[in-house]
Parts: sequence; C-alpha cells; structure tokens
Amino acid sequence: MSQTEPTEHWLRLLQEAVDRSAEGITISDASRPDNPIVYANEGFERLTGYTRQDVIGQNCRFLQGPMTDQDTVSTIRRAIEQGTECTVELRNQRKDSTPFWNRLSITPLRNEAGRVTHFVGVQSDITELKETRDQLEIANQGLEQFRREITQQMEQARKAQEFLLPPAGVTKDPRVDIVYKYVPTTQIGGDLLDIVQLQDDAYGILVADVTGHGIHAALLSFTASMAFKSIAPQYRSTKAAMRAVNETLCGQLHDDNFVAMFYAILDPTTQSLTYTQAGTPPALLVRRQTAEVIPLHTRGTVIGVLDDIQLEEQRIQLETDDKVLFYSDAIVESINPAGEMLGVAGLQAFLAERGHLPLKALLDEIYAYGQEFSGQATYDDDFTLVGLEIED
Ligand SMILES: Cc1cc2nc3c(=O)[nH]c(=O)nc-3n(C[C@H](O)[C@H](O)[C@H](O)COP(=O)(O)O)c2cc1C
Repeated sequence: MSQTEPTEHWLRLLQEAVDRSAEGITISDASRPDNPIVYANEGFERLTGYTRQDVIGQNCRFLQGPMTDQDTVSTIRRAIEQGTECTVELRNQRKDSTPFWNRLSITPLRNEAGRVTHFVGVQSDITELKETRDQLEIANQGLEQFRREITQQMEQARKAQEFLLPPAGVTKDPRVDIVYKYVPTTQIGGDLLDIVQLQDDAYGILVADVTGHGIHAALLSFTASMAFKSIAPQYRSTKAAMRAVNETLCGQLHDDNFVAMFYAILDPTTQSLTYTQAGTPPALLVRRQTAEVIPLHTRGTVIGVLDDIQLEEQRIQLETDDKVLFYSDAIVESINPAGEMLGVAGLQAFLAERGHLPLKALLDEIYAYGQEFSGQATYDDDFTLVGLEIED
C-alpha cells in the first residue's frame, strides 16, 4: 500500500496504526473548554489502566499526582498556551495509583488558517529506562569517588617515591659534579635512579627501568630500590653488586617482570669509572678534548629473571671535562612524526654538537630535544637522566 492508494484505504491503515501503536496516543480538542481528550488509543489504555470511556471528555491532568513535578507541568502549560511542541519526562500515576515515568510529547495540529485545533500527545513508559539511568548515575558517582581516592593514593605514592630520589646536591666533592633529571609519565613511575656515597669517597650511580607503568611498576621500583640501597654499599665491583641485586630480586619479582639497570662506580681520586650494563641502553661518555661521544657497553641481560645471570664489568679512565650520561630508554625511544626512533645514535649525534654545555643545562636540553623530536609535550615513558662531569 502506498500514499497513492485510494484515500479511504489509506485512512483505514492510518487509523489501524494509531489504534494499535504500543505507545499511548491521545488527541485533545483545543477549541473546547479545558482542552479535553477526544481520542485515546489501546496503548494509552494499557499504559494507564484507564479505558477510553474513562478519559474521553477529560483533561489529561488526571494522570498527575502529588509526585508530579510542578515545574514540568508549567512547561507543558506554556507550550499549550503558545501552541508549540514540547517533550517532557514526568511522574504520572495509573488508574490503580501505581506511579510510572512518562515521556510525553505534545504536538499542536493547525487548520488552514493556522489556528491550533487539536493537540496530539504521545505517551511512553520510561520507568525502567529512568531507573537504569538513576542506577547508572549512582554507579557513576561511586566510580568518581573511587577515581578521586585512587588519584589521592597515587599522589601519596608519588610523594613516597620522591622520597627515594637522591637529594638535590648529591655530591659535595669539588672534583666531580653529578646532577639528574627525573620526570615520571604518570603520577608515579617505574624508573629508578640512585646516587649513593660508597667507601673511599666513591659514588655509585644507578639508573634502572622497571617493566610497565603505574602502581604495579612503582611497587616493583620500590622493591628494586630497597634491594639496591642495602646491597650497593657492600661492593666496589659493579658486577658483584648487580649480581647480588639480581639474586635478591629473582625471588621477589613475579611473572614476566624484570628490571633493566645500568650501574657505575666513580672513584673521584683515580677518576676511574667502573660500570655494568644490564638491559639498558649504554651510558654515553662525552669527551670534550677529542669531541668524541663514546658508548659505554658491557654484555649482560636484565635483572630479576635468571638466578645465574651473566654480567660483565668494564673500567674506563675519565679525564678532566669528561661528561658521562646515564639514562633510561625514554629519550632514545622518542619517535618523530615520520615514525623514526631517535635511538642511541640520535642522542650521540646530539651530544656531539651540544655536549659542551654546562651539565645542568645539557640535561634540560636533552629533555627538550626529545620533546622537539617527537613533537609532543610529554614523554610516553618515565624520563630519567643522570649526568656526571669531572671538574678541573
Ligand atoms: C494531547 C495531550 C496529552 C496530554 N497527556 C498528558 C499526560 O499523559 N500526562 C500528563 O501529566 N499531562 C498530560 N497532558 C497535559 C495536561 O493535560 C495539561 O495540559 C497540563 O497539566 C498543564 O495544564 P494545567 O496546568 O492546566 O494542568 C496532556 C495534554 C495534551 C494536550
């Protein structure tokens, strides 16, 4: 059947559709006093429990009760007075006094002269929807509260983690300057750095990166930090210290967690640097006198996985004005918009140009270089960078 079929058929079909509609449909006569209902369909009867005989000739406000919001009723009243459409959600009650939520749409019908002659009302029972929405609202409030608590706890954890960082002026030694820059990605990070004073004025410098981010990684980094702090002062060999840290952590890390570490011991008297690399990128030595940037590698694997770990130790003689940079992988894993990674070679090239800068400024420039390279204001990973310089 289409609209080109004889009008009578068409009208019958329309009448049938309106009568049988699952929604409540009512028509009121706007020309009669108090806008009484002149038509109500089966859907309206089912929804409200009133029969057509009950309602024909009545104004539809009989569905309202003490729980009906009066501001919403005023909205309907204004729309009817002005002859405009309106859709509202309001509490109504059935014939048996049970309440329900009604989504009511009222549309004016006009004659050829433009005068409103009737209104069509469509009533839908949205009680379930409303209840689900209310429950969702309550659940959302609970979630919001939970989020606030977690944020607060993360903030406290971050403060606790800050407490583990070495104090700002770590070295009092005029022969050596050691500074660091640490910027965790989330409020708490999985990177770990430490600078400890050893016997004979030596310094132990650790940069470590724990798998993952967030609370889990932070807890692992706490564990690793505690292990390192208690073990490091007992050793003057970086390899022996890392083996001991590995032994402790092997029993404490679970699943596929591990820690990458670079540990170096500087003896300012002899200016020698001993180091062990375990799964991190190499440290970089910037040699001012020859303008070289030398990667400090040793063979080795990550800490916390294998009991019998294979590690190496190397020693290098530093010279006045030498700088050494220790870092976690955030900087070298910076990716530019073309998808290329900065890499150790990229950092080396940067240091070849800018390595002469004062140490503190150099760390800031490396941080800014990574941002510039990736075109992003923040790093995807915790950023840890420690620099040491042999002074005159
Ligand atoms: C066609 C039509 C259907 C209506 N259906 C409802 C309804 O289902 N529930 C309701 O609370 N009010 C309904 N109303 C609104 C009331 O009839 C009335 O207009 C409203 O209460 C504001 O007027 P008052 O302040 O004089 O009561 C409907 C109005 C019209 C014109």
